[in-house]
Amino acid sequence: MALKESKVLEKYFDTIAPGYETMNSLLSLNLDRLWRARMLTKITEFGPKTILDVACGTCDVLRLLEAEVKSCTAVGLDLSHGMLSVAKSSHPSFKLLRGNGVELPFPDNSFDAITIAFGFRNMPSHEQFLLEAKRVLKKDGRLFILELTQPENRFLKVLNSVYLRTVLPFVSGFFGRDKEAYQYLANSIRHFPDQKTVISIILKCGFKKANYELQTFGVTTLFVADCS
Ligand SMILES: C[S@@+](CC[C@H](N)C(=O)[O-])C[C@H]1O[C@@H](n2cnc3c(N)ncnc32)[C@H](O)[C@@H]1O
Repeated sequence: MALKESKVLEKYFDTIAPGYETMNSLLSLNLDRLWRARMLTKITEFGPKTILDVACGTCDVLRLLEAEVKSCTAVGLDLSHGMLSVAKSSHPSFKLLRGNGVELPFPDNSFDAITIAFGFRNMPSHEQFLLEAKRVLKKDGRLFILELTQPENRFLKVLNSVYLRTVLPFVSGFFGRDKEAYQYLANSIRHFPDQKTVISIILKCGFKKANYELQTFGVTTLFVADCS
């Protein structure tokens, strides 16, 4: 089941890889940069030496890590050949590998921190990803999940839902992007569990502490979880 879903997603991301960053900025009104920057501030405060960025896409997060988190080693992992090939052409020096977030190809206790930006909701099993993240993190490691979510306020939630059902497919279609892929992405945001449920799943998977911070009224949420 997980592998079948991953195959479909891989195809979607292969299709949208060229122009992904431009569409992201357009559809989020450039807020995606602010959201990643906020995660970066939290990572810098933590000060990891080794970082794994899961679902790295075209390297938006790795780029920030390389520029801002000095003397750290970062590795990116993604499922999509298309995303990785865009990433490799603009960042030939980055350490990138193809893999599935639910089967991380690393030994136990490998990283101080794991980041995943806008990729957690695409994992074929949230639990399986979290168990894998916990396994490859060091004992005092920290997981940072940045994800598109629904605002907690009911009025804003309705507005966001209207945006996801109408504006997002219209704009992506207008720019000739794969409508089915963007439709899938919009649906996956609407069906993503609320913030408190995500925290309970994280804790159930063995993390000792977890909290979250809403960004832009909860259109995006930063979840931070500690192994100890
Ligand atoms: C919305 S993009 C996010 C890219 C990047 N992190 C960013 O900040 O823009 C989601 C990424 O998750 C990847 N992905 C989806 N399912 C995955 C899986 N099971 N394992 C690893 N990567 C996956 C996709 O290929 C895609 O590059």
